[in-house]
Amino acid sequence: MSGVLIAPSILSADFTDLAGAVASVESAGADLVHVDVMDGHFVPNLTVGPPVVRALKRTTRLPLDVHLMIDNADETVGWYLDAGADIVVVHVEACRHVHRVIRAIKDAGRGAGVSLNPGTPLCAVEPVLAEVDQVLVMSVDPGFGGQSFIPSSVDRIRELARMIEAARSSARIAVDGGIDAATAPAVVEAGATVLVAGNAIFGAPDPPAALHALRAAALSRLC
Ligand code: DX5
Ligand code: ZN
Repeated sequence: MSGVLIAPSILSADFTDLAGAVASVESAGADLVHVDVMDGHFVPNLTVGPPVVRALKRTTRLPLDVHLMIDNADETVGWYLDAGADIVVVHVEACRHVHRVIRAIKDAGRGAGVSLNPGTPLCAVEPVLAEVDQVLVMSVDPGFGGQSFIPSSVDRIRELARMIEAARSSARIAVDGGIDAATAPAVVEAGATVLVAGNAIFGAPDPPAALHALRAAALSRLC
């Protein structure tokens, strides 16, 4: 996979027809399916857990990018690996032993990601940059879809790109929160290569068309 990857977040999809929602973006060329797991503690919302990850795994060939917004990833990361997550992203603020969690993900042969909230200094992820496949920059405070993009995220992505290069890491930068055709060009220009988008795709009347528009906007700044 190269260029800019589009990861529709099913948080904004119709939960009574997740299979249909995923199929619609898969045929439109989505690269990943982003699954937001929330526990009502780390974030003020509750969503889905391992059974839904397992069910999604049966409905699509796209890699499942599972974003754990939970307090106890140290103890429960194995649930998501067993359920078939292809990439597991944990929050640096929520892990007591972040290297150990990342190691568990890598030992299972899956992609490992680390995420950080907009209020968390970038240096919090520096110790694991060489270990991870993805750093997920939150561009909203996590917990809900449809929030407004925090503009300072662009500078954070630019600085993170410098840190990743300095660490000689091949980690991709993903960005999550308020990403749409208007905000995508600046984050891509700053160095993001994975765009997570919920409301901009599944909140649109025609999700495949919205995905194409997002990709076109992202690519407009690549060359
Ligand atoms: C928010 C989640 C996001 C969410 C993004 O806490 O992590 O993945 O689905 O939604 P939008 O794209 O609507 O901001
Ligand atoms: Zn997410």
